[in-house]
Amino acid sequence: MSGSREFVRLDGAAVTLVFTLETGDAADCVYLGARLPDGEDLAALAAATARGRHESQPDVPPVPGVLPEGKAGWSGTPAVCLRERTEHAFTECATDFRLVAWEQYPTELILTFHDALLGVDIEQSWWLGASSMVCAEASITNGGGRMLVLDRLSALALPIPRRFSRLTSYTGRWAGEMREHSRPLAPEGFARTSVAGKPGFAGGNWLILEDPASGETLGVHLAWSGDHDTRIDADMVGSADGRAILQMGAAWDGGEVDLEHDVGYRTPTALFALASDRSALAQCFHEHARAAVLPARKGWVPRKVHLNSWEALGFNLSESGLMRLAVDAAAIGIERFVLDDGWFGGRRDDTTSLGDWTVSPDIFPNGLGPLIDHVKSLGMDFGLWVEPEMVSPDSDFYRAHRSGCLHAADRDRPTMRGQLVLNLLDPAISDAVFRQLDALLREYDIAYLKWDHNRDLFPAKARVGSVRNSQTKYFYALLDRLRAAHPQVEIESCSSGGGRIDFGVLSRSHRVWPSDNNDAIERLRIIPAWSQFLPLEVLGSHVGPSPNPITGRRAAMDFRAKVAMFGHMGVEADPARMTDKERATLAAHIALYKQWRGVLHAGDLHRLAHPDPNVTGMMVTHEGKALALAAQTAFSPVFDAAPVRLAGLEPGARYRVTLPEPWPPRAKHYLANSDSWREGLVLSGAALMTQGLALPLTHPETAWLIALERLPQ
Ligand code: GLA
Repeated sequence: MSGSREFVRLDGAAVTLVFTLETGDAADCVYLGARLPDGEDLAALAAATARGRHESQPDVPPVPGVLPEGKAGWSGTPAVCLRERTEHAFTECATDFRLVAWEQYPTELILTFHDALLGVDIEQSWWLGASSMVCAEASITNGGGRMLVLDRLSALALPIPRRFSRLTSYTGRWAGEMREHSRPLAPEGFARTSVAGKPGFAGGNWLILEDPASGETLGVHLAWSGDHDTRIDADMVGSADGRAILQMGAAWDGGEVDLEHDVGYRTPTALFALASDRSALAQCFHEHARAAVLPARKGWVPRKVHLNSWEALGFNLSESGLMRLAVDAAAIGIERFVLDDGWFGGRRDDTTSLGDWTVSPDIFPNGLGPLIDHVKSLGMDFGLWVEPEMVSPDSDFYRAHRSGCLHAADRDRPTMRGQLVLNLLDPAISDAVFRQLDALLREYDIAYLKWDHNRDLFPAKARVGSVRNSQTKYFYALLDRLRAAHPQVEIESCSSGGGRIDFGVLSRSHRVWPSDNNDAIERLRIIPAWSQFLPLEVLGSHVGPSPNPITGRRAAMDFRAKVAMFGHMGVEADPARMTDKERATLAAHIALYKQWRGVLHAGDLHRLAHPDPNVTGMMVTHEGKALALAAQTAFSPVFDAAPVRLAGLEPGARYRVTLPEPWPPRAKHYLANSDSWREGLVLSGAALMTQGLALPLTHPETAWLIALERLPQ
């Protein structure tokens, strides 16, 4: 194939990628879009988008393609950065990787690049996953015998078709995850690097590019629970055709990835999907998550309703208090009782005892057995909170393993939330943590672990130098080892809320904790943002207390409960502190959730567009059934509220539409024809999607559920 120029296409059900492969030179992706017809002339396709050289370009305009480098005048971020260790210094290598081979399989393309001077190979794999999701990975091997360190290798370098000119990224904070920011893709491009040893609240591991003219949407993700680097170089000097290039990869500290000692390095997987709009994009990500990411689903759907002790009791734990809470939980329909922080060692507040994963005799004189037996006798199973990667300086574990935390030699050990991070690269530490967790899971009937991670990784240093990258691999290894020993135990990934949410951790867990913020109004922003990528069944969604402990806002139980149904529902409040009416309302919504979770957790999610920015709507359709939520967060006079238009229905089919009760108390007297809403109106999909339903959404914090059932033709 030497010196040849070939065209190769990769087809998914709805997407085609066309690559131009020039052996001895570059590889480029010249088409990314809707599925092309068979027989398309790929040479003509490439020619149609190629441009001639203009006056101020290098004589041979560089083709950054799918492996951009700083050679030949291209000024963007290189996909690969290597340094060579000489006797006295590290010298940056001028790389020159050329395509030397490629292999094509029905749904995969493997490209091999070689730098002849350095003797280094890079292999890129591009393959189609479930639901036309495109996955990409790269690996590098040093066959040249030089002493090299790798500073960067992008998992994905994707030339972006120019129609994708609108960019949406996310920023966030503790209790304020996934704030969406949309703007034109400016010449400055985009750059986001996380530094906390996890994707973090200001995640750059999720990104959306859109064509404003057609609504066509490209969603991108890096499946990695450590630090990432995401960038789009949009206005590059020397660029052959002006396309932007998007890159995603893991990030680490200089010198950490040593190609001298390591066999090589393989990136995590980057993924992207193309869809006709935001709802279709969500469905694409959800289908991929369900089919290819989440641990075998059998046995863990349907998702049980949780009661979590954190916002119910906090650190105010006693065996009798928990027994009482369990009785109250069972009475409202809870199926899993989760004991959060405070059950172990001397942990009476958050300053102490992380690392001592033994049951506190002060609270549980006879261990956890009596509580678990009690919970099980009430028909629930039992879950437990742990934070295995962390240690409190005030703990027996720390006193026994003082050198076992991440720290810079002879420097202070700054804490965060009063804690330090364990060095999981040290086999003695990882093993000691494993043994404690393993002993707990062996001794007790524990169905579920809420695995938390509440501290950033600073300094990410150990005796071996920086461990910013390796710590994540060892976290995976620890979790994998525990799951292999206890495959029946479900895992939730939590990191002060949504600080570590990605397909890497989700391939080893069953749900994530999207935010510590249970305020329903906040959740109406946070859940739609996460569910752009993640299916509702993995998004923990709890009814918290009122007033909410984080925002101070009060909200009616009806509103809190309806909002919490759209996720993996739970309760994080003490039923004993609710009025009888609130408890009854909550129990009724838990019953509704049980009735509808088969739809919510298997169906297609649709965002409902509404002219009022204070109305949020989402809807899930599945096998002729659908449940929608329409929620109002601010005041809107009754005649101003536009009808809620539904989505994802068959226009010609007829549906029975009901509004499941309980109805929002303050709004229900605005409802015309209550009886017909109870019996059900029969309307076509076309009418429901075009005209919609005039629901009373007058009062702030009003939410309605809309149930649909397709009638036989
Ligand atoms: C983190 C979690 C919370 C709770 C507390 C307990 O903040 O996100 O849900 O478990 O820890 O300390």
